[in-house]
Amino acid sequence: MEVVIKQTADEVGALAAELIGRVVESKPRAVIGLATGSSPLAIYADLARRVADGTLDFDGVRGFALDEYVGIPEEHPQSYASVIRTEVVEPLRMDPTLVRVPDGRAIDIEVACRDYEQAIADAGGIDVQILGIGANGHIGFNEPTSSFASRTRIKTLAPTTRADNARFFDSLDEVPTHCVTQGLGTIMNARRLVLVAQGAGKADAIAAAVEGPVSSMCPASVLQFHEHATVIIDEAAASKLRLADYYTYTYDNKPSWQL
Ligand code: F6R
Repeated sequence: MEVVIKQTADEVGALAAELIGRVVESKPRAVIGLATGSSPLAIYADLARRVADGTLDFDGVRGFALDEYVGIPEEHPQSYASVIRTEVVEPLRMDPTLVRVPDGRAIDIEVACRDYEQAIADAGGIDVQILGIGANGHIGFNEPTSSFASRTRIKTLAPTTRADNARFFDSLDEVPTHCVTQGLGTIMNARRLVLVAQGAGKADAIAAAVEGPVSSMCPASVLQFHEHATVIIDEAAASKLRLADYYTYTYDNKPSWQL
């Protein structure tokens, strides 16, 4: 796993956007895995600037969101279908018919989850998956003790995740208790993973994911098994890493052909 420590949250977004931009430039019909929440917003904003000034084009690029709430209508402003539309599809001028979000409203959720997995496979798999991390170490909404082999499925949100996400709703009671999320196995199938985290509130989760034992108690620690995972964090999120200086040294001396 490559760990890159940047001074500010904006620099985290800019570097991650550069990596995503490179994938899109090299493969115009690239397939991107899309995270929601606060962490990737700077990435999308940076990519949107490049789309606006004409230096990057998402026409033909396909997208698959990581997760969706169960129990709120699609038109709710906090449904991930809405968030992906307003934060990603519109600013990046993506073709909305090429972007999918798991269906949290399906009558048969299991069938919808299987369809979602099939759609990812039919698209040729995900080229680059953008990830945030929960304070409890979740990726997607794979809460602690999620199976490393899991596929897209319905999950119960941990009480701490509901509390963390209450800031997006009028009250804690309005935060759904369930979600549909790509599984850890689904995420691990992506050809490249780019995880971003900012702020001291993520420092414990980052330390556990990067330097802790690989354990379902910290679902993000599964990234240690991925052959091409990049973790881009600011200094606050890096503050509990024992080998922070080593990661910076390694990055500063990275061979040019690997950049
Ligand atoms: C969102 C997702 C979650 C978030 C995580 C961090 O699609 O999959 O894993 O990335 O909860 O959320 P923020 O970025 O809001 O701190």
